[in-house]
Amino acid sequence: MITKIALVGFGTVGKGLYEILKEKEVRFKEKYGFTYKIVAIADRSFGNVYNPNGLNMDRMMMDASMGNRFTEDLVEWDNITLIKECNADLVCELTYTDLKDGGPAIDHCKAALSSGKHVVTSNKGPAALFYPGLKKLADAHGVKFMIEGTVVAGTPVINLASGPLAGCEVTKIRGILNGTTNFILSEMEKGKRYKEVLKLAQKLGYAEADPSGDVNGIDARGKVTILANIVMGAGMKIDDVDCKGIAEITLEDVLEASAENKRYKLIGTVERVNGKVIGKVAPEKIALDNPLASINGVTNALTFSTDLLGDITIIGPGAGKEETGFSILTDILAIHRNMCCC
Ligand code: HSE
Repeated sequence: MITKIALVGFGTVGKGLYEILKEKEVRFKEKYGFTYKIVAIADRSFGNVYNPNGLNMDRMMMDASMGNRFTEDLVEWDNITLIKECNADLVCELTYTDLKDGGPAIDHCKAALSSGKHVVTSNKGPAALFYPGLKKLADAHGVKFMIEGTVVAGTPVINLASGPLAGCEVTKIRGILNGTTNFILSEMEKGKRYKEVLKLAQKLGYAEADPSGDVNGIDARGKVTILANIVMGAGMKIDDVDCKGIAEITLEDVLEASAENKRYKLIGTVERVNGKVIGKVAPEKIALDNPLASINGVTNALTFSTDLLGDITIIGPGAGKEETGFSILTDILAIHRNMCCC
C-alpha cells in the first residue's frame, strides 16, 4: 500500500522530511514495505499544488530552492479545501507555531482529521492548546493525531513514554526543553553577554522567528503543557504553567554560579504533587554532578522519574531541519506499521 502524504507548510521541516524520505526510499521499502507519494503541498510562499498520482517532487524542490512559486500542478483551492479534497491518507501539519490561539494549524488539523486523514505535526500550537479535542476527533474518525516532533524534535520523548515506558508510572519529568536558551546560557559561561549571544543564536537559526518565545520560556511552557497532558494525563492549560525565562540572568549571575560549581539551566518540570500535576518553567542553578548540568549548547535532555525504573534520562537534539524532519518520519512510519496491521 502506498502512503499518500500532504504537506501543509513547506519550510525547513517539510524540506528536511522530504530529503530523508528520498534518501532512504529504497531502504524503507525493503525494510518496512513502506512506499509513499507526496500528493499535495500547501505553502503560503510557494502556492498550493495537488496531483492525485503524486507530485514531481524534484521540480517542487527546485522551485522552492529558487524562492519561486511552484510551476506545475497549482490549484486554486485554499488550504482547508486542499486538505479536505485531496486523496492523502496522512497530512503533515508543518506551519509556524502560535501558542496564543494555535494559528491556522488548528483548522488544518481539524479539517484533516474530520475528513478521515491522519495528522502528524511538530507544531506545538495544536498539541499544547487543543490536544484533548483533536485526539477525540481523531478517535471518532478512526485516524491518528501524532505529535512526537512537538517536544525535543526527533529525540523520542512522547513515543518513549507511550511505548517502552508504558508499564511505568511517571511521577516527574524534568529537563532542558529549549535549545536556544541552553545555547545562550552555555555561551555566557564563556564570558559573553546575553544580548551578544542571542544575536548569534538567531544567526545560527536556533531561535524561533520571534525569539521572545524562547527567552521568556513560552516555548518550554508549551512543551511542559504537552508532556503534562500526554504523559501524565493532566488536563492542564498552558496558562496553568508557572513560567519565567532567562532574560534577567546576567553574565555576573552565570559566573557566580560557576564559582559555586553550579550551572544555570532553564528547567521545565512536570510533577505529581498530592495527586495534582503541576507544571513549571524557570532558570535553576544546577549542581555539576546532576546529569542535566552537563548538557551544553542546543542539546535538550529530559529525566523521567518512574516507579519501576527510577530515573531515565534521554539526551538529544531538540531542533533542526533533519532532526525535526525525522520526528515527522518516525510518526509516519508508526502509522504505516499500524495501517499494515489493520
Ligand atoms: N526554538 C526552539 C528551541 C526550537 O530553541 O528549542 C524547537 O522548539
